[in-house]
Amino acid sequence: MKEIIWDDTLSVEVDEIDEDHRRLVDLFNLLSHSVEEGDAPEYIEALLEELISCTIWHFRHEERLMLKYKYQGFEEHKAEHQDLIESVRELQQKYHQENKLLTNEHIEYLEVWLTEHILGTDMKMGFYLMEVMD
Ligand SMILES: [Fe+2]
Repeated sequence: MKEIIWDDTLSVEVDEIDEDHRRLVDLFNLLSHSVEEGDAPEYIEALLEELISCTIWHFRHEERLMLKYKYQGFEEHKAEHQDLIESVRELQQKYHQENKLLTNEHIEYLEVWLTEHILGTDMKMGFYLMEVMD
């Protein structure tokens, strides 16, 4: 089973952002586990929607912090958030069209979807915020 183990390599050094990211990682792991167990499609659907909703909420949170602390990379970062939401909505749509079957391939895609952004774009933002936040 695909599982994301939280460790310091995923930390962006800003506690309130790390807390959100941990929640997203937890939801991802629940989803991955459910797919592995073959849980009911309605349950998997609900988990996927929860993961997406939490991600949208979390992106707003990051965007607010970037605005508050006048982060130069705001527009670029926000655009990446929009792309990420679009791509996961596409996956969700495919899930609905393809008889509600979430496969390991989808899970692997989601793993990259979640971690790549944290390890790249969020790290850069965290590095800046860490310096300017009280
Ligand atoms: Fe972000």
